[in-house]
Amino acid sequence: MNDPILFSPITLAAAEGPGIQVRNRAFIAPMCQYSVEAKDGVPTDWHLQQLGSFAAGGFGLVTTEATAVEPHGRISPRDLGIWNDEQLDSHARIVAFEHSQGAIAAVQLAHAGMKASTYPGLPGFTPGYVPEAEGGWQTRTPENLSKDDIAEIVGRFAQAAQRADQAGYDVVQLHGAHGYLMHEFLSPLTNKRTDEYGGDETGRSRFVREIVSAVRAVWPAGKPLGIRFSATDWVENGWDVDATARLAQVLVADHGVTWIDASSGGLGNGTIPVGPGYQVPLASRIKTALDGTNTVVSAVGLITKAQQAETILATGQSDAISVGRAALRDPHWAAAAAAELGVPRDQLPSAPQLHRANW
Ligand code: FNR
Repeated sequence: MNDPILFSPITLAAAEGPGIQVRNRAFIAPMCQYSVEAKDGVPTDWHLQQLGSFAAGGFGLVTTEATAVEPHGRISPRDLGIWNDEQLDSHARIVAFEHSQGAIAAVQLAHAGMKASTYPGLPGFTPGYVPEAEGGWQTRTPENLSKDDIAEIVGRFAQAAQRADQAGYDVVQLHGAHGYLMHEFLSPLTNKRTDEYGGDETGRSRFVREIVSAVRAVWPAGKPLGIRFSATDWVENGWDVDATARLAQVLVADHGVTWIDASSGGLGNGTIPVGPGYQVPLASRIKTALDGTNTVVSAVGLITKAQQAETILATGQSDAISVGRAALRDPHWAAAAAAELGVPRDQLPSAPQLHRANW
């Protein structure tokens, strides 16, 4: 058997220098845990054990869940934040552990926009908005933001990136997907502004471009910057994969982005053709548009099997794979996949303490 591509290293390029080498192409997708019971945005032991297990289990890159750049940017009151130093210190503890396991530490910086202030997505909570009397808040939308508000949020992203750097994160992934604020600006379904932040594609993407520029300006030049898109709304006249590919080209050429993760959905009522690897064609389309650049494009969505992931990479549809729920079920998915693809037992990417699992 040839050496599996999934377990060959990959470099995430940066604005300057060699970039960052990741030991393999199995990445952890960001997954909200709604586990900050103190509602202060500070990562807890839960986050340490879970993200730590992904790192110990052999994943090359572990992305911390959507982490809000300001309190009103949280999806729920129990989300992570990175707007103060107490949060920073707790992130740093997680990053240090991930590094001790040989994983690269990424964080998804997010603002939930109109989908903020909801109850945690956990059993026992009713879906819906948290009223202000219960600690909820007025959400921010493309419509209700003044230009000063926009500038403030752009600044919050930059401050969050600075704290992410201080916490030791190697990579920032901006959350441009799933109907949250950046995606709300991009999509004609939700961006009805008539000023320079709305209208045509250039106007609707201005907010995203400003955030990317502000973050790139403060994020160390030697560290890679990525973005996750909803590459399509799955709705006619919505945001689509061609628009995503065009924006990706601009962000790569002019704004120093070197990693694109291709998700989809989150706005509107489109029918999503959910099935194994259903978003892979989106990654492939974006990868084609970025041909000749040093960008890493990762595919995500129901990629659950080692051979499935290997085939996606071997056929050039993406450069890396992001895994979500399969890793919730088995945090050591990467080690098991490596063994299945023929990586010798003594070279599995997992921690030595797991060696006797006998994958
Ligand atoms: C998610 N997803 C997600 N996406 C994101 O961009 N930021 C986030 O914080 C979260 N949170 C989250 C929590 C949980 C519990 C799940 C299951 C999912 C989406 C996730 O990253 C991924 O794109 C999807 O789960 C599809 O990939 P899988 O699970 O089919 O591998």
